[in-house]
Amino acid sequence: MRFLRQAGIKKGDNVLIYGASGSVGTFAVQLAKYFGAQVTAVCSTPNVQIVKTLGADHVIDYLKEDFTTSDKKFDIIFDAVGKTTKSASRHLLKQGGSYVTVKSNPKEGPNDLMFLKEVIEAGKLTTVIDRRYTLEQIREAHTYVEGQHKKGNVVINVFGDQ
Ligand SMILES: NC(=O)c1ccc[n+]([C@@H]2O[C@H](COP(=O)([O-])OP(=O)(O)OC[C@H]3O[C@@H](n4cnc5c(N)ncnc54)[C@H](OP(=O)(O)O)[C@@H]3O)[C@@H](O)[C@H]2O)c1
Repeated sequence: MRFLRQAGIKKGDNVLIYGASGSVGTFAVQLAKYFGAQVTAVCSTPNVQIVKTLGADHVIDYLKEDFTTSDKKFDIIFDAVGKTTKSASRHLLKQGGSYVTVKSNPKEGPNDLMFLKEVIEAGKLTTVIDRRYTLEQIREAHTYVEGQHKKGNVVINVFGDQ
């Protein structure tokens, strides 16, 4: 949320979310929709359905299409996996548009957390859970996550079984 806020997201914005199927990406798609944006999500073929279910209006499958050749223009481009560069996508920004990347570190305040609490309690945020591991399986969990292909989130159940 702090990345989208940093970019000044507002109702009606055209927002592109690159890496829409990761943890940050799946929340970004839902929050951008909550803010009233038109969302174009970039992900690979197996994750197209997930991001559509989360509310994406358009999906670009990066295995079939290079998003930088899109003829659309965006108010915000958010790289939720840190694998693009501003220079490679600058031409897709509308005048005054913003490029934000998960590699930056915008500030977060207590009001942001209260806002998120309200969105969650209103049932507007779904947590996509890919796999669950016990604490004893933490090494396998790390290996999986470090592969950078998880869908949404991975859960470690500290106190019990999977
Ligand atoms: N998770 C957090 O709580 C958190 C908090 C702060 C910062 N961060 C940072 O944010 C970044 C993203 O973390 P994350 O946990 O959301 O996800 P992640 O594990 O880094 O990424 C997983 C997702 O990225 C997609 N992906 C991988 N390579 C891609 C590529 N070349 N192009 C497009 N999509 C690609 C994968 O989909 P495919 O399998 O389809 O490629 C997968 O769904 C990381 O740098 C992390 O350090 C994460």
